[in-house]
Amino acid sequence: MNARLAGRTALVTGSTDGIGVGIAQALAAEGANVVVSGRNAERGAQVVKSIADKGGQARFVAADLGDGEGARALAEAAGPVDVLVNNAALLIMPQPTGEVAEELVDRALATNIKAAFLLTGLIAPAMAARGGGAIVNLGSVNGFNGSAQSALYSMTKAAVHSLTKSWAAEYGPGGVRVNTVAPGPTRTPRNAGVMDHIEPLIARTPSRRMGTPEEVGAAVVFLASDEAANIHGATLSVDGGLAAV
Ligand SMILES: NC(=O)c1ccc[n+]([C@@H]2O[C@H](COP(=O)([O-])OP(=O)(O)OC[C@H]3O[C@@H](n4cnc5c(N)ncnc54)[C@H](OP(=O)(O)O)[C@@H]3O)[C@@H](O)[C@H]2O)c1
Repeated sequence: MNARLAGRTALVTGSTDGIGVGIAQALAAEGANVVVSGRNAERGAQVVKSIADKGGQARFVAADLGDGEGARALAEAAGPVDVLVNNAALLIMPQPTGEVAEELVDRALATNIKAAFLLTGLIAPAMAARGGGAIVNLGSVNGFNGSAQSALYSMTKAAVHSLTKSWAAEYGPGGVRVNTVAPGPTRTPRNAGVMDHIEPLIARTPSRRMGTPEEVGAAVVFLASDEAANIHGATLSVDGGLAAV
């Protein structure tokens, strides 16, 4: 087993499904001890087992990041963390701004922005006190560009891109590197149900295909590892070139 992250503990929010699973597995394959997290304990146990079956180390901590209490409880239960991946998010079906329910606005802001904000505020200072660490946020191609019918989701991802730069300024001097991975359309169980929205994007993506959770995981591993020691505040697109065109 490679060991770019041996001896480090990595907390991956939203790693019970989709991209987070690929991130958790990629970090574990590099020797990290991974804290798998989400609301669904059954899927969490499956991810832990998939890692253990390959000789990796992982445990599941249940957390609902829909409110601040959930973020605080997760930071407490995870214990000392060397790598924090703020991945959990509510993906939102395209709809006109005026038809978005206020409750959905609140939930999206809480899950996609506030949870990462609170977790980072709790965990980054502790990382710095122990000599440093790495935080990787999950942004999106939607965080760069305007997107009709996806204003709410895009706003939350643009906020993540912005937070990455502010946190790089705030925590970098203390030895905590903060960066973003910005995926384009990625093959996940959830996306399988919305391919009619995704096909037009693929048609104008230079790679002409969807990405995979494994490809996003590889980018997260790189930014979390010492190979990225001088990379702070960067946003790395893993989108087949979609944001570039
Ligand atoms: N898939 C794409 O094409 C794509 C493209 C660009 C960016 N991204 C970004 O990549 C990240 C992962 O997306 P994904 O496609 O893998 O999403 P997904 O398949 O919907 O998975 C979302 C994960 O977040 C967790 N989650 C959702 N709400 C939660 C809450 N209230 N509390 C705790 N955990 C919660 C879910 O776990 P539970 O259900 O167990 O709670 C699940 O593990 C997100 O930040 C997304 O914005 C995705």
